[in-house]
Amino acid sequence: MKNIIITGGSSGIGAATAQILIEKGHRVHLMGRNQEKLEAIALSFPGSCSFTVGDVRIVADCQRTFEDAKTQMGSVDVLINNAGLGIFDPLTQAKLEDWHEQVDTNIKGVLNMIHFSLSEIISRKGHIINLGSVASHHVFPNSGIYCATKHAVLAIGESLKVEHGKQIRITTICPGAVNTPFIHATKNEDLLKEYVPNFEKGLNPKDIAAQMAHVIEAPEGINISEIIIRPGV
Ligand SMILES: NC(=O)c1ccc[n+]([C@@H]2O[C@H](COP(=O)([O-])OP(=O)(O)OC[C@H]3O[C@@H](n4cnc5c(N)ncnc54)[C@H](OP(=O)(O)O)[C@@H]3O)[C@@H](O)[C@H]2O)c1
Repeated sequence: MKNIIITGGSSGIGAATAQILIEKGHRVHLMGRNQEKLEAIALSFPGSCSFTVGDVRIVADCQRTFEDAKTQMGSVDVLINNAGLGIFDPLTQAKLEDWHEQVDTNIKGVLNMIHFSLSEIISRKGHIINLGSVASHHVFPNSGIYCATKHAVLAIGESLKVEHGKQIRITTICPGAVNTPFIHATKNEDLLKEYVPNFEKGLNPKDIAAQMAHVIEAPEGINISEIIIRPGV
């Protein structure tokens, strides 16, 4: 049984991951901004799920999340940096504030959580899982800055591996399209019309959650560094 923090636990991949991990006997502490959704999930799993309402862009919220998780669970074995968003637009039409929101959430949010959790994870011989994307490996039109943030997430995982790969497990999970509310952060109506059907045909968030359980429950002595998972036949 592991004690696990999941950022972005209120929706999509994070919420599906919480459910699967709890069903497998683990304890989770969720973080996100939507109190109502977090409360509803925690109520469905009494004794196995706690939460902190917070924003990964705010350093004090990340510190509070880590401290609440330790208070609630006693220790933290696994940090899942899942909170993230993509706001798609051509570069010439994109708003600077949307680029900043993606960088602040997808990169700085991951760093904030690692900063407060790393010593504990090392002391527990634990595991850090970061949500990358196929956009960690490829750059697509209309989502260049999102792709840049996910390249950074992969590099952050590699840097953890270089310095701490003998002390902790580090995994980057890189999905293709997953059918979650993710695409609806995009406001460009033309792109939404084009992209929504692709995401609706995408993977089920439970497919990604199953991979999270797989890497967390891998036998001792094995670190699964990366999983790239796309919709298939
Ligand atoms: N869906 C895909 O096709 C896909 C593909 C590859 C990778 N990913 C990655 O998978 C991760 C999860 O995405 P998803 O598909 O599950 O999308 P989602 O359903 O929109 O969920 C995103 C989660 O991130 C949280 N979040 C966003 N900004 C936050 C902030 N500033 N502070 C705290 N929490 C924040 C949201 O919670 P609140 O709104 O409650 O704050 C929500 O729980 C993301 O990192 C995304 O980049 C998704």
